Amino acid sequence: MTSTRAVDVPEFPVARPESCPFDPDAAFSRLRTEEPVSPVRCPAGMDAWLVSRYEDIRTVLADPRLSSRCASSQHMVPGYDSGQDPAPGQIIQLDGEEHSRLRRLLIGEFTVRRMEALRPYIQRITDEHIDAMLAKSGADLVPDFALPIPSLVICEMLGVPYADREAFQQDSVLLLDTETDWETRGAAWQRTCDYIGGLVQQRQVAPEDDLLSRLIARGNETDRPLTMAELVTLGGTLLIAGHETTANMIALGTLALLENPAQLAALQAEPEAAVEELMRYLTVIQFGLLRQATEDVTVGGAEVKAGEWLVAAIQSGNRDGDVYADPDTVDLGRQARTHLGFGFGAHQCLGQQLARIELQVALTTLLRRLPGLRPTAPLPLSEFKSSAIIYGLRSLPVTW
Ligand code: HEM
Repeated sequence: MTSTRAVDVPEFPVARPESCPFDPDAAFSRLRTEEPVSPVRCPAGMDAWLVSRYEDIRTVLADPRLSSRCASSQHMVPGYDSGQDPAPGQIIQLDGEEHSRLRRLLIGEFTVRRMEALRPYIQRITDEHIDAMLAKSGADLVPDFALPIPSLVICEMLGVPYADREAFQQDSVLLLDTETDWETRGAAWQRTCDYIGGLVQQRQVAPEDDLLSRLIARGNETDRPLTMAELVTLGGTLLIAGHETTANMIALGTLALLENPAQLAALQAEPEAAVEELMRYLTVIQFGLLRQATEDVTVGGAEVKAGEWLVAAIQSGNRDGDVYADPDTVDLGRQARTHLGFGFGAHQCLGQQLARIELQVALTTLLRRLPGLRPTAPLPLSEFKSSAIIYGLRSLPVTW
């Protein structure tokens, strides 16, 4: 599928139904039944096998013969050069030992215990932001609540000054939008790297009690210390992945809950289960996960040749009726912990325990303390981030 570009290959399905901006393209339900591994043409120009059933997606994401070298969603970026090697330290795009070397250095920073220790801090900043909202009669939930909470947490963890947030938040939006041109994208990544590079240099001279300092020290204890380039890419990736993902989930999750008020009691009764269901239902990594076959493999009965591309469509697997009854309904009482919203396999999200706690605290506290919360007006479709790799809202004006 890399070389032969047949003329009749369908385009990658991205059209959300106007009736429900939380649902993926309706084509996925037909594909799951009729052609669960089907050829598609991606906006980046390559043709790929679109894998749309839950079980096949798990098989793809667990198979070490399927490389992550262009993960996660580069197939959606027009003009993407798939021949490039991943940058040193780009954990999400490395395979095998190169990947596990970095993951081993980081995993201890993200244990359930460490993340639970952050819960009181997350509760405190959540309450403070709600207090600030209550001092006004209305707010925009994205800048006033959804964005600051995960940004503060990842800054605190990494040792990044929160005062510098405006620049890295703006650059993250540019980097994650598939419509950003390459010059702007390159400049945004360069600024992020220069910024993290400066912090790494400071920590090399004067270590502090933060993740960046510990990463430098831990790397130095191995027989292959992390290079400056690796530290910079890792730090930049964590800074971006650590705030933009959860921020989008908080805003979109709030809107989904406000549109399903019958579910609010279940949120307060069982916040853990509720968050898993929201992760399933919303699948904010909205275009699936790109992989490349390093040898011939069979997936869902289809013969995939070495060099061909596959997209594990987690947005579709999370709506697979063979796994989740009535999959297009948000049902906070269901047991959805098996969802694919954090991926699966070797690259499964490193920050998932942190994201879970942030979502549990932010959503339960917001909707408990502001029981009259509602959007000020119906949200126009232009406020949904339909071209961003991470789906979410640009703004959500609310009152209570
Ligand atoms: C709701 C919030 C989040 C969602 C939906 C999410 C989703 C994902 C997904 C789907 C992957 C797998 C990508 C692939 O296989 O190609 C991933 C990987 C990753 N995530 Fe998250 N994530 C979230 C929050 C976070 C946070 C808070 C952090 C850091 C503090 C983080 C750091 C990472 C890293 C470092 C990886 C790469 C892991 C590896 O390659 O071994 N994520 N995430």
